[in-house]
Amino acid sequence: MQPMISTFVMVIFGATGDLTARKLMPALYSLLEQGILPDRFFVVGVARREFTHESFRELMKETVIKELRSKNLELRIWEKLKKNLYYQQGFFEDKEPYEKLVDLLSSFDKEIAACITRFFYLATPPQNYSQILKHLSSSKLSEGCGQGSSKWTRVLIEKPFGKDQETARLLEEQLARTFEDRQIYRIDHYLAKETIQNILAFRFANRFVEDIWNNKHIDNVQITLFEAGGIGNRGKFYEGVGALRDAVQNHLMAMLSYTTMEEPASFTASDIRGERVKVLSKLRCIEKEEVKNLVVRGQYGAGMVGGRQVAGYREEKDVAFDSLTETYVALKLFIDNDCWSGVPFYLRTGKRMSKSAVQIDVQFKNPQSKLYREFKLTSDEHANVLTIRVQPKEGISLKFFAKAPGLTYNLSPVNMDFSYLTSFKRDITDSYEKLLIDAMVGDQTLFATSAGFGHTWEFVTKILKGWEKQPPPKFPNYEAGSAGPKEADELIERDGRRWLL
Ligand code: BG6
Repeated sequence: MQPMISTFVMVIFGATGDLTARKLMPALYSLLEQGILPDRFFVVGVARREFTHESFRELMKETVIKELRSKNLELRIWEKLKKNLYYQQGFFEDKEPYEKLVDLLSSFDKEIAACITRFFYLATPPQNYSQILKHLSSSKLSEGCGQGSSKWTRVLIEKPFGKDQETARLLEEQLARTFEDRQIYRIDHYLAKETIQNILAFRFANRFVEDIWNNKHIDNVQITLFEAGGIGNRGKFYEGVGALRDAVQNHLMAMLSYTTMEEPASFTASDIRGERVKVLSKLRCIEKEEVKNLVVRGQYGAGMVGGRQVAGYREEKDVAFDSLTETYVALKLFIDNDCWSGVPFYLRTGKRMSKSAVQIDVQFKNPQSKLYREFKLTSDEHANVLTIRVQPKEGISLKFFAKAPGLTYNLSPVNMDFSYLTSFKRDITDSYEKLLIDAMVGDQTLFATSAGFGHTWEFVTKILKGWEKQPPPKFPNYEAGSAGPKEADELIERDGRRWLL
């Protein structure tokens, strides 16, 4: 059954930025087209640049057209979305735009003759969060319609949620001064990806899986988030953030938590989030001295991607010519609990890789079989591997051995494959559409938690501290379009294993 959404106001701070253009506007458009959003709602873009309501609508139209074109879709219902869009110019640090928002938002309440639920979406660079939260509170916008009489407001915050453990804690404290936890929606869109949500179904709706999902049967797990793309126009954002904060602290940890959490007692947000946090609390931190052995960082230089010559990271727009920001990370970690003790998890992420692929490879142990002893099936190459393809070619496959047809008895590796495209014949739901709807209906299941981020920030901050102690890295150390730095291969090969992707 489709959710029923009533009239809402969404104030997007950072409305002229990349996220609004690539994700939020196309998601709103698609939800409206699917008939999930009501006819009348209010989206107010807030940003520094001068726009009128009308010129902002034109800008948004361009962004939606661009996104639709990339999916071979046509713009069909623009007028329906357009009439619900508004713009408020202002600097996030000034009081004025918030005062104007108070008036604008009350005019919406008057039009509908009701207190409309307000969503404040922080899609700005993280350094603006504190100012915005301060003004939301002092202007009482955070208190919603009636300014104090109602708590019908919610705040959605994009990652990176802080710069390290300490700044994340300060941000949490500030949020807690203004909003209750049930009003806070911390976004890590990987938690809402269809294929990642499906990990729970795969594991717990199919009982046989759970019986082999532990250290008795699993040799190692590899979680990879590779992108062929570079940083595009996001140099200003990416500089000083880097791959560890941009992808490891959140997206890779989201995949790790779904892969390793215990079965939640129910489908409630608190049970599911609780189990995610529980396993993250068992992450073994990599101490400063171990960082050089267990973590590899890299930065791309110029190279060829998809037959095209591309610039190195240091040549990208808004990037320092001697930047030490990492665009690649590979690391090995352990989870200290009964289920996963002794199983290494190898996590990797990188930009400008030879291809875009996000996947989780679970490699099973390969004990000697008595019957098949003469086939020497004990090496790494002969292991059974279960691959969850998060994107593209979404699906799950299992590599196993079969008797090759013929008069002699030979074994051959084959694949059992589930693909969303063939099984469901419909598009995968976009994670931002899911997140917007869930925030609107007040379901926090697929949103990150303060405690979970606390654990992942602790893990990441120790690595950052370890890097501070090391001599500056010799960047660039991998070519765009390659498989990443050679040290990453050494990281896994030292253990007698190899990357499966
Ligand atoms: C974002 C990161 O959170 O996730 C980007 O900031 C990255 O650097 C993106 O490209 C990847 O998301 P997706 O959904 O395209 O895999």
